[in-house]
Amino acid sequence: MIRRCDSRELEIIYAIINDAAQAYKGIIPADRWKEPYMSRDELRREMNEGVVFWGYEEQGELVGVMGIQHVQDVMLIRHAYVRTSKRHQGIGKKLLCSLREQTTRPILVGTWADAVWAVRFYEKHGFRLVSPEEKDRLLSKYWSIPERQIETSVVLADSKWFEARQRRRSGLCLLK
Ligand SMILES: CC(C)(COP(=O)(O)OP(=O)(O)OC[C@H]1O[C@@H](n2cnc3c(N)ncnc32)[C@H](O)[C@@H]1OP(=O)(O)O)[C@@H](O)C(=O)NCCC(=O)NCCS
Repeated sequence: MIRRCDSRELEIIYAIINDAAQAYKGIIPADRWKEPYMSRDELRREMNEGVVFWGYEEQGELVGVMGIQHVQDVMLIRHAYVRTSKRHQGIGKKLLCSLREQTTRPILVGTWADAVWAVRFYEKHGFRLVSPEEKDRLLSKYWSIPERQIETSVVLADSKWFEARQRRRSGLCLLK
């Protein structure tokens, strides 16, 4: 079952994130890794700043979460995590599909450049990497993250975002 999480579920969301984030250990740059990967305070701040978590429940227990955040004209997918023991069973796919149905806005997702499995996961679902220049611009425009995280991240966008960009570019050409 997929359902919206409650802010009172901070503890279980925190546990899922930090269990799943073990995947990053030894993979992302050492200066970006810390334990816990995300503190309770950081998670609380993210929720207060508008990240809404949706969760996948199995036998009454949350085993995966994905956050969404509406920022300006886009929807961001934030913090997608499935418990290590529950991966490769299609839970991530179900969460992603459910979140995509909730918006008509273009969708962007940022992840670590070194998290090749995450890039592959989104690509499998029709997202495409934006160029490095575009990535820097988008991360500064829509996210509030440190410069070093911008350097070490990638951004993927859905087809709606690429179509909107194409229309903007065509519009600019007509104006010239
Ligand atoms: C990225 C993540 C959320 C995906 O969750 P997931 O539940 O494993 O996702 P899915 O099961 O839908 O798909 C993952 C893979 O399992 C495969 N799979 C799905 N159902 C399967 C099944 N029944 N049997 C075997 N493989 C299966 C998918 O084809 C996919 O293959 P791929 O690795 O070639 O892309 C999860 O790997 C995770 O939490 N990773 C650590 C944190 C992370 O990287 N988060 C992303 C940050 S934005």
